[in-house]
Amino acid sequence: MGNVEGKGSLRRRKLFVANWKMNGTTSFAEAYATFFLTHRSSVPPYAEVVFCPPTLYISTLRGIAESGCAFLGVQNVATEKQGAFTGEVSAMMAAESGCQYGIVGHSERRRFYQESESDIRAKILRLEEAGLIPILCVGETEEQRAAGQMREVLAQQLKDVASSASRLVVAYEPIWAIGTGKTPTPAEIGQTHQEMRALLQAQGCSTPTLLYGGSVTAANARDFLVLDEVDGVLVGGASLQETEFLAIIRCLEG
Ligand code: PGA
Repeated sequence: MGNVEGKGSLRRRKLFVANWKMNGTTSFAEAYATFFLTHRSSVPPYAEVVFCPPTLYISTLRGIAESGCAFLGVQNVATEKQGAFTGEVSAMMAAESGCQYGIVGHSERRRFYQESESDIRAKILRLEEAGLIPILCVGETEEQRAAGQMREVLAQQLKDVASSASRLVVAYEPIWAIGTGKTPTPAEIGQTHQEMRALLQAQGCSTPTLLYGGSVTAANARDFLVLDEVDGVLVGGASLQETEFLAIIRCLEG
């Protein structure tokens, strides 16, 4: 990501992605949209913000995107372009609804819906065709980490992902850190991001945007975001509280 003029200094852009998962109601989404429209001047110039609500609430948040203070993302898309796939939503539909980003390969999709590596690559392709930027989630389980298999797992999840995407965001989300209050140390995240960047660059993806995700809160976000290797954060639980998420976005101020 590029540089912008921060308060008195040149500061790199950072990406803040809110993943609501399957949470919220219409009135929650309306109140959330109103909060961010009201507070849009508090979003610092270094922050690029992406809201990923459940698909049915994307239109409720569209005003935020139209105001220019944030982008919208879809949490999942179909592997297919269109047709008889009951219950699915295509990347084209997400694009038409105002989305610029699409999360793909979240560990909950891999685990609960048996999403395979080939499904994930098909979804990246669908997102690219629709003009959406993929946010690919990768990460190891606690057991894989304990067994020293982390590098192997990440290499597998990152294999051949870059060829079909002109711009790629990758979120390193260790599964044991999601919703648990546990996180790797900033030094561990920095090291892992360096290795992921090298793997992606070897595939010709020269400037991937690398996020950290897993139990990010307003209390710890700065520890990760000050790292040069970290281009942003993917936030689940803490993104459901507007003030907390705004505090995360503003954590590098001052
Ligand atoms: P969490 O979720 O912030 O609640 O740990 C992150 C994610 O699953 O994207």
